[in-house]
Amino acid sequence: MRRIFVVGPRLASFSIGLIGAILSRGVHGLSNGVAKVPVLGYNTWNFFQCNIDQDLIIDTANLMVSLGLQDAGYNYVNIDDCWAEKNRSSTGELQPDSVRFSRGMKNLTDQVHALGFKAGIYGDSGWFTCAGYPGSFEHEDQDAQTLFADWGFDYLKYDNCAIPFDTIIQQGTMGKYVPMSNALQNLATNGSLSEPVVFSLCQWGWSQVWLWGARLGHSWRTTGDISSQWSSIASIINFNSFITQATGFYGRNDMDMLQLGNGNMTFDEAKTHFTAWALMKSPLLIGTNLSAITNETLSILTNKEILAINQDSVEPDAVSPFRWGINPDWTSNSSFPAQYWSGPSENGTVFMLINTLDTPSDMFFNLTESPWIRAGRQYSVRDLWAHTDNGTAVRNFTATSVPSHGVVALLLNDSGEEPLGIYPQCAVWFSCSSENGTYVDG
Ligand code: GAL
Repeated sequence: MRRIFVVGPRLASFSIGLIGAILSRGVHGLSNGVAKVPVLGYNTWNFFQCNIDQDLIIDTANLMVSLGLQDAGYNYVNIDDCWAEKNRSSTGELQPDSVRFSRGMKNLTDQVHALGFKAGIYGDSGWFTCAGYPGSFEHEDQDAQTLFADWGFDYLKYDNCAIPFDTIIQQGTMGKYVPMSNALQNLATNGSLSEPVVFSLCQWGWSQVWLWGARLGHSWRTTGDISSQWSSIASIINFNSFITQATGFYGRNDMDMLQLGNGNMTFDEAKTHFTAWALMKSPLLIGTNLSAITNETLSILTNKEILAINQDSVEPDAVSPFRWGINPDWTSNSSFPAQYWSGPSENGTVFMLINTLDTPSDMFFNLTESPWIRAGRQYSVRDLWAHTDNGTAVRNFTATSVPSHGVVALLLNDSGEEPLGIYPQCAVWFSCSSENGTYVDG
């Protein structure tokens, strides 16, 4: 019986992932094993914005090693906007800022690679990047050659600013990403790259990117820029709660870079931010100043039990809400998103409870409200923040005094049949009947 539960869902989701991979490979050929799980790493934008240079990148990479972030799995160091000269070279090439990146980009990626990281870079599908540097419109092949074949970057965040007029672009929102996708595919197939480039779409405009992002990229931004306020965290969770099924091995909703360590989030809010991003299988890109990181922030970023779920290489599904909680199911509420979530994982069923209220509260659920739980079984409970085994749950679970804006993350595993004689016969009374047709729910 145990095998039916454990193996069944795994096989089902594996084949969905496989179909997705085949479909997207048919379109662009980039999903061949690279970034099968969400990318973990660092990005310069949230903290440093345009104040970046080569030394910052190397210092950041060194800090990622010394702080234990590399050991925890963070293996990309990504440069965001503002790295370029405002003008292309006389032959049309992108050029790095001659002062801030004076040693050149090949030198930089060599150093980043030597420290054991992959290196990411930023570009734009339009005339200009969002900070006014050259975009790649009508330069896609040339820029792909420069950034990836010549300079050796491994990852491209591709933004959405300064889109040419309709009469010029003559493309839809997906179409404007196709030339760069094709350019990357050409490089991968003509032997210019040792590995395909990870293509991260920064399509934050309303475009239903979650419906088509997997045809072109490994991840796709679903919402506007994150800020370091709880209101931003809650609103991104709310938006993404409706599109969790878009995420799989072949690509995933990108909830934007982590704001942990920036601004004035409480410890509980920061834990909720990290847990939701990780368990919803978003890429996790650290966006704070590592030279001033607190032990508190570091302890959150290096929670290996949470990271293991984000990086699950067997089970790609995101957690999804099974009950919205204080709101009726399917309510969209940017301040009070869904509270009760679950999903499958390689090592058990994951539960995430978010107390969206401004006061502490108890949070209760019946186990079989989650589609990943078997009726009539009891489950061992692992707390992924306390790192403790918390006994056995029979029928239901209550988390007591969950702090305001706090989170509970649990891993449940089948630990045998539930004790005999529990009443009522069905914890969730939906069409539950005895053999002779007596419905217990009337
Ligand atoms: C925005 C993007 C940010 C950052 C910024 C750089 O469009 O959403 O994440 O990349 O551009 O200018």
